[in-house]
Amino acid sequence: MINKVKGTYDVLPNESKIWQYLENYIKKLYESYNYNEIRTPIFEYSNLFHRDSEGSDMVTKETYNFKDKGNRDLTLRPEGTAGVIRSYVENKLYATNQLAKLFYIGPNFRYERPQKGRFRQFMQFGVEVIGSSDYLIDVENIYLAYQTVKGLKLKEFQLVINNLGDKVSKENYQKALFEYLNPFKDKLSPDSKERLIKNPLRILDSKSKEDQEILKDAPSINDYLSDESKNNFNKIKDVLEKLKVDFKVDDKLVRGLDYYSDTVFEIISTNKNFGSQTALVGGGRYNNLVKEVGGPDLSGMGFAFGMERLIEAIHLENIKLFEEPTIDAYFIHFNEVTKKEAFIIQANLRDEGFSSDLNYLNSSFKAQLKEGLRLNTRFLLILGEDELKVNQITIKDTKTSSQKTINKDEITSYLRGEKHV
Ligand code: HAM
Repeated sequence: MINKVKGTYDVLPNESKIWQYLENYIKKLYESYNYNEIRTPIFEYSNLFHRDSEGSDMVTKETYNFKDKGNRDLTLRPEGTAGVIRSYVENKLYATNQLAKLFYIGPNFRYERPQKGRFRQFMQFGVEVIGSSDYLIDVENIYLAYQTVKGLKLKEFQLVINNLGDKVSKENYQKALFEYLNPFKDKLSPDSKERLIKNPLRILDSKSKEDQEILKDAPSINDYLSDESKNNFNKIKDVLEKLKVDFKVDDKLVRGLDYYSDTVFEIISTNKNFGSQTALVGGGRYNNLVKEVGGPDLSGMGFAFGMERLIEAIHLENIKLFEEPTIDAYFIHFNEVTKKEAFIIQANLRDEGFSSDLNYLNSSFKAQLKEGLRLNTRFLLILGEDELKVNQITIKDTKTSSQKTINKDEITSYLRGEKHV
């Protein structure tokens, strides 16, 4: 037997309905905020992700890189943002849309250690807004992510926001943090030791107890923010409060990618059975990415949800988002003659837009009946040979349990509800 690749999973038919539901829900919700869908390739040239400025583990250690037969260096996308920005720049969307509001849904690939909530192929949906640094875009993004979760009736979550400051504030803070942490370097966890040189900010979200102890007296980003940056963040918080959004400020939230500055946020699951990977969504503002990818000097803001984690959160709270699927008709037949006739009637019904199925296994009457009920069928259509000879068919309404024999030609109108209401 050949097994699935480590860190991947199959969406089986009993689970695919929730994926479809979510995809439709997202499209509808995001379009109502005037975001339009963009679809970009699953692989890109490696240098799109492996930029000098991006030193995050995700990009340096966790990407799937390969050479194609033309000796090109390619990478399976580990996230959606870089590809969307590449497409925005390459297609000069800035020429037609002064403000581009985009959303996307698709698979991403990271060579991470698989665990609960962490896969090597996973689905993200997210948004990118490019072309303005207006603080209300930050609010709109955070609010949309918040509404995405609320609209699914989830309750066990917490929105966390932070301000990393502009480029200069972030750099000054990074320096101060390094100076504070360097004397403790022998006591830091191995990961944090490595990060101390590359990006000390990332030590802030370390889960190691020793690191957390050392961080207790570390300088806070708040002491390094410019007045402008502070004002901007205050305006964001003010509108969020006016919108009655329940949020927490955490000055240790830095996020796992290096391209962020100013506003960052996450929504984490607070369900105690969720496992250690609690972020349902993460996002923030990026000021240099568009320029780095060869575009104009424009600011962007976005977020991405992990769909597997969102679905897990929905399951853990036992939320029922939709009724079990039903079909309109299930045909029960008795021999080759009635089976063939059922097949022909069924083809006509399907052409008229009804959902329908019949038994191809020549099962017993009892087994066919059971199957029809298992499929949540509304009408069971029973084709006896004698009845068929006089063009009649028995129809059983599973909702009312009433049963009737009708003329074959009346099936469509009967199913439409014209004859039995
Ligand atoms: P990220 O925090 O790396 O951000 O990923 C966003 C979300 O994707 C996470 O909160 C999580 O739900 C999900 N996720 C990430 N890695 C995995 C994995 N290995 N298995 C399952 N789920 C995972 C980004 O990707 C940014 N591009 C978000 C963004 C958009 N920032 C600005 N615009």
